[in-house]
Amino acid sequence: MRQILVTSALPYANGHIHIGHLVEYLQTDIWVRFQKLRGNRCIYICADDTHGTAISIRAQKEGRTEEQIIAEMQQDHVRDFTGFGIEFDLYGSTNSEENRELCGEIWSALRKADMVVEKEIEQLFDVEKGAFLADRFVRGTCPKCQSENQPGDNCGNCGETYSPVELVDPVSTLSGTCPEVRKALHLFVQIEQMHDFLDEWTQSGTLPSESANYLKNFFLNEPLRDWDISRPAPYFGFEIPDSPGNYWYVWFDAPIGYMGTTKKWCDLNGENFADWWRSEDTEIHHFIGKDIQYFHTLFWPAMLKTAGFTLPTKVHIHGFLQVDGEKMSKSRGTFIQASTYLKHLDPAALRYYYASKLSSKVNDLDLNLEEFASKVNSDLVGKVVNLASRTVRFIKDVGLATEYPDDGGLFAAGAAQGEKIATAYEAGDFNKAMRLIMELADKANPYVEENAPWELRKDEQKADELQAVCTVALNLFRQLAVYLAPVLPRLAQQAGDLLNAPITSWDEAASPLLGNQLNKFEHMMQRIDPKKINAMIEESREEQALEEEVPVVKHSYQDDAAALQSEPIAEQITIDDFAKVDLRVARIVEAKAVPEARKLVQLTLSLGGEETRNVFAGMKSAYEVDALQGRLVVLVANLAPRKMKFGVSEGMVIASGPGGEDIYLLSPDEGAVPGQRVH
Ligand code: MSP
Ligand code: ZN
Repeated sequence: MRQILVTSALPYANGHIHIGHLVEYLQTDIWVRFQKLRGNRCIYICADDTHGTAISIRAQKEGRTEEQIIAEMQQDHVRDFTGFGIEFDLYGSTNSEENRELCGEIWSALRKADMVVEKEIEQLFDVEKGAFLADRFVRGTCPKCQSENQPGDNCGNCGETYSPVELVDPVSTLSGTCPEVRKALHLFVQIEQMHDFLDEWTQSGTLPSESANYLKNFFLNEPLRDWDISRPAPYFGFEIPDSPGNYWYVWFDAPIGYMGTTKKWCDLNGENFADWWRSEDTEIHHFIGKDIQYFHTLFWPAMLKTAGFTLPTKVHIHGFLQVDGEKMSKSRGTFIQASTYLKHLDPAALRYYYASKLSSKVNDLDLNLEEFASKVNSDLVGKVVNLASRTVRFIKDVGLATEYPDDGGLFAAGAAQGEKIATAYEAGDFNKAMRLIMELADKANPYVEENAPWELRKDEQKADELQAVCTVALNLFRQLAVYLAPVLPRLAQQAGDLLNAPITSWDEAASPLLGNQLNKFEHMMQRIDPKKINAMIEESREEQALEEEVPVVKHSYQDDAAALQSEPIAEQITIDDFAKVDLRVARIVEAKAVPEARKLVQLTLSLGGEETRNVFAGMKSAYEVDALQGRLVVLVANLAPRKMKFGVSEGMVIASGPGGEDIYLLSPDEGAVPGQRVH
């Protein structure tokens, strides 16, 4: 008997569970149920990931404490998981004493191994909120291409990557204010010291081959960068014991939450923690999404190795959920919360559909809503439940036959497939397992059709034959229910109730039930009505509209009224009046000072092609001529030429300001080209 510890990634406590998350938790739950059914000792451990900035921000916004928020969210998460039949052996929290202690233990080991270094780094600090800003809470102008309102880590326009402190005019998205640059001490783990170990470990069959290859080519050729694992106060997390005022970054204590929760489970169940996390005999399986691979395939094994804990046997990595071929979308109503789904549809349907789509590959998975309905209806309702619902009533008085009838080898053939199906489950190839199971269902149904128990029952002479046919049908049904039990635990339960024999082990698929009395047929599965899917989508769309708006960047400018007062707005004109003024984009191709004139600069403006204009502009005191060369300006192009002392001025360049040093040329945004009219 294997001893197996299984985890799913710990969901963040700052949001509800949605159908994307469920890909992972259902996948894990199915695998765990499979292991238990096979008779292995297996525990499923998970917890809420409670620390970090996002929780604090939410707390501040809602005027509650972090503890209140995480307690409430934990309840909601557990409610949603339970609703989908996901059964943890313990669902804990990273904000626990067990976790704090284990963090300390691993930390000491890292210190002892001399892997921790201190560095001073510059970070943006939101003075109003009193918080250092993570990259995603800053926006500003790209230092390279100058496009505005770009995120804190890379530019959406030119692709440049940078640190938030390099942004021009940064704005905190938390308060809308301009953050200041502050220096702070951070602690770093030098995981490069584990380079060779990680190189070997990641290539040793612990990861899906796509992930292993990726790491080999891209990551492990270069030195691994030091990992910044501390955050200065204020931070919601655990304070680092030997570095007061600094806290472990949430991604340090989160995976340790796997252990902290195991520790709690051990304490509750009289188990020895070392048997699970310091034992060669225990397998550890993590299930995670592809977005959090680095944490689980580099940092995490490095931490475990350094502290002498058991390394993961396997990291099972899945892709992301799409709905009808596209990313889940709030406005399309496909960002569906677990709780919304449960209001409209049967959790068993999603469990089966995801199973039919999951493989051991890191592929994204598409929830095609039409296929979802048709697959559930044709496979589960049409092929599986049907076997029981069409036969059980004919023999409810007599029960199953006491000898197994001749079924042409159907049951034996199904039993013979058991190991093949088990291998597929074990490998995470649930789609293959479902296919093999449905192949059996496809053979069972014609048997019932051909033997037509509904005809047999009309003839009293054929009572034995009727019992035989129904005995076969119900045993084939039960065999399928055993194989499907990891995916459809409720169906397995109902099958057990119906036939007076609970399904407790995989081996029950290998021998038929005989002589059992039957219980009342309880309704097992309903066809999916597409109307319900639509109602669910509609409700998800509405929920999104109700959701609090995304924080918008509000600039706090302090513009006084002086400029307007010194020059009030002119008399109204019509659009036709305005149209008389022909404004054009122009490029200054040459600029030179007019030595004899105190204020004047002589500009040669290009309107594109051969077309140029000579313009004298009074801005010597505001601009260096060199700085004018090449830039775009706006020209009043149809102004009557004016003869001046130094030549003819053929237009006017538009600028604001009272004069002297305060002259500001107007520039068109990037993309404008000389000659374009300004409307
Ligand atoms: N808190 C971290 C995990 C810490 S583990 C020590 C986290 N939380 S999460 O709530 O964002 O995601 C939890 C899991 O759900 C992750 O493995 C993530 O990949 C998975 N999924 C979240 N959204 C998903 C989809 N849309 N599709 C598939 N899986 C997704 O990451
Ligand atoms: Zn840019």
